[in-house]
Amino acid sequence: MSLTAYLIAVVVIGQPAEAADVDCVTCHTQVAPGVVNDWKLSAHAESDIMCTDCHGEGHKSVEDVGKVRIPTPETCGECHEDQVEQYAEGKHALAWSSMKAMPTAHWQPIALMDGMKGCGGCHKLGLKTESEIKALKKQGAGFGVASCDACHTRHLFLAEEARQPQACRTCHMGFDHPQWEMYSSSKHGVRNALKQIGTLPESAAAPTCQECHLPDGTHANRTGWGFLAVRLPMPEDKQWAEDRTVILQALGVLDPAGNPTPRLELVKSARLASLTQEDWQGERDRMIKICNRCHSKNFAVAELAKGDDMIKQVDHVMAEGIRIVAGLYKKGKLTMPENYAYAFPDLLTFHNAPTVIEQKLFVMFLKHRMRAFQGMFHMNPDYAFWYGWSEMQRDLTEIKALAKELRH
Ligand code: HEC
Ligand code: HEC
Ligand code: HEC
Ligand code: HEC
Ligand code: HEC
Ligand code: HEC
Ligand code: HEC
Ligand code: HEC
Repeated sequence: MSLTAYLIAVVVIGQPAEAADVDCVTCHTQVAPGVVNDWKLSAHAESDIMCTDCHGEGHKSVEDVGKVRIPTPETCGECHEDQVEQYAEGKHALAWSSMKAMPTAHWQPIALMDGMKGCGGCHKLGLKTESEIKALKKQGAGFGVASCDACHTRHLFLAEEARQPQACRTCHMGFDHPQWEMYSSSKHGVRNALKQIGTLPESAAAPTCQECHLPDGTHANRTGWGFLAVRLPMPEDKQWAEDRTVILQALGVLDPAGNPTPRLELVKSARLASLTQEDWQGERDRMIKICNRCHSKNFAVAELAKGDDMIKQVDHVMAEGIRIVAGLYKKGKLTMPENYAYAFPDLLTFHNAPTVIEQKLFVMFLKHRMRAFQGMFHMNPDYAFWYGWSEMQRDLTEIKALAKELRH
């Protein structure tokens, strides 16, 4: 036993660890009282669900801390089978594997991935395989495998906490998916905030993220357009189809000749896009039914169609930027990064974009294009226009100017 652990045992329990044979709660009230206090306030404590139900009985004293069980969704599933099953069907379940599958993942510091900081800090809510969990444990403490503490946090595990939009905030914010910022300053979010502080009546209409995305307590989440806002089949509009093809090429899903690449498999397995009309329409119809709880169907259909149209508009601007950079590779005016399969911009590797013009294209895609259409879907005029559309125009102007310099 380490000296610190020995001292904890002596100071805290008042006797050498060898003699300590106290239960989890008694000892942990001294070791980490915050944990025990939260557990005491929980529905679990009320129902006599004890520390051992989740952590096992392997660790009982200061010497054998290494034998403790770190819970996984399977642990929760012993009593909450429905939620675990629903969860496995949703997109959150894929968060770990989709992060791992990104080419850019290999170039990040390990602490920002498996260390559950950076990318891993958000994507840890994804399900992990048994062998992944073993590998994580080998690398260190092996925390971050629970998934289920992302919205109702440990050790309160309070459903009411998970019902608040704030529960989504830590991850759905910032650079490329600022849904929190967009929602909280939209009329929907402002109304909900006024409900939370008691200005508006508790039963007043104000949709939360959960009401639209995890309706009626379900744990399965998914949207039609998804994060990337590309889908199949190709649109009938000829210009839009051409623009989307260019974007798919820049995502490495189609090669420069327009043929599918091995990355298409990645898109399929991580469900990065809707691949059929039925798939997409099913999600759209489900969403319209939710809007229809408070708005007329006509209103909702028209509002969401404006979002779709915005995707068409941003795709056109985006494709123009991509074509310019692709042209520079082709003419040898820009050195193609050596890890590239094709002489074409690769938006999935651009976290490490080597030149300013490539960085501009990356920001245009991941930050400004996202904001423009996400702002439409989250009823936020400022994000749709100023942080989204307007910034894209600026990106394109700068890309054109940089390209001109490179050509001369
Ligand atoms: C005699 C005191 C004592 C008893 C009894 C005890 N623990 Fe611990 N436990 C500790 C100490 C000390 C640590 C390490 C704390 C630290 O690193 O800050 C620990 C750590 C843990 C951890 C975190 C593991 C880690 O790697 O940080 C969990 C979970 C845990 N205990 C659960 C339990 C459960 C469940 C029981 C009852 C079956 C239990 N403990 C009984 C003292 C005790
Ligand atoms: C309903 C299941 C559940 C119960 C009951 C439970 N825990 Fe935990 N505990 C968890 C989960 C989930 C984690 C997070 C694991 C991870 O990060 O992967 C955790 C983590 C911990 C940790 C380490 C992480 C930290 O924040 O320090 C300690 C210590 C701990 N639990 C102690 C206890 C003690 C003591 C009790 C009883 C008073 C208890 N737990 C009851 C589910 C539970
Ligand atoms: C041994 C059985 C058992 C295990 C294991 C267990 N729970 Fe529970 N859980 C219960 C019981 C019993 C209740 C209270 C009755 C109810 O709401 O169903 C409850 C309630 C809850 C609630 C609702 C609390 C509220 O505010 O009403 C949440 C959320 C929850 N558990 C999450 C979890 C998570 C996450 C895990 C795994 C880390 C877990 N539980 C593990 C038995 C368990
Ligand atoms: C711990 C971080 C985290 C929290 C908390 C979180 N999410 Fe997510 N969410 C993610 C990640 C990461 C993804 C992408 C998953 C993937 O790789 O497919 C995601 C995906 C989604 C998607 C799917 C979008 C698509 O591709 O169709 C929706 C909808 C969503 N989250 C809603 C919510 C809501 C609502 C909450 C709060 C109740 C929430 N999330 C809480 C991290 C989080
Ligand atoms: C602040 C939390 C956070 C960080 C940090 C983060 N992500 Fe994400 N990531 C998310 C959320 C939330 C989504 C879902 C966004 C949406 O659908 O609008 C997401 C989406 C994704 C997707 C798309 C999944 C899909 O189904 O479309 C991939 C791939 C991804 N992230 C990889 C990464 C990688 C690799 C890193 C680090 C370089 C990273 N993420 C950093 C939260 C984060
Ligand atoms: C993205 C956020 C999020 C994640 C992650 C999450 N939950 Fe929940 N959970 C919720 C919300 C929201 C509610 C409240 C649902 C409602 O309105 O009744 C909830 C409620 C619950 C309840 C209480 C159900 C009831 O009827 O009282 C249980 C049990 C539960 N979750 C278990 C789990 C388990 C197990 C996992 C991991 C597989 C998990 N949750 C992961 C958001 C989440
Ligand atoms: C009024 C309903 C509503 C509310 C409230 C809402 N969303 Fe959305 N969300 C949508 C719609 C509609 C879409 C686009 C659906 C589609 O792809 O057709 C969407 C899309 C998403 C996506 C996929 C990428 C994107 O932004 O288009 C994520 C992730 C997401 N929402 C998370 C959240 C989070 C987190 C919150 C709360 C901070 C939230 N949403 C609040 C309706 C809502
Ligand atoms: C729980 C009820 C509720 C749900 C569900 C809901 N809304 Fe709203 N929505 C409201 C309220 C209340 C307002 C504020 C009305 C006002 O500004 O007078 C609002 C405002 C709006 C606004 C801005 C104000 C306006 O009249 O132009 C739009 C756009 C909107 N909602 C679209 C949607 C769409 C699309 C959905 C589904 C994705 C949806 N809403 C779901 C209650 C809801």
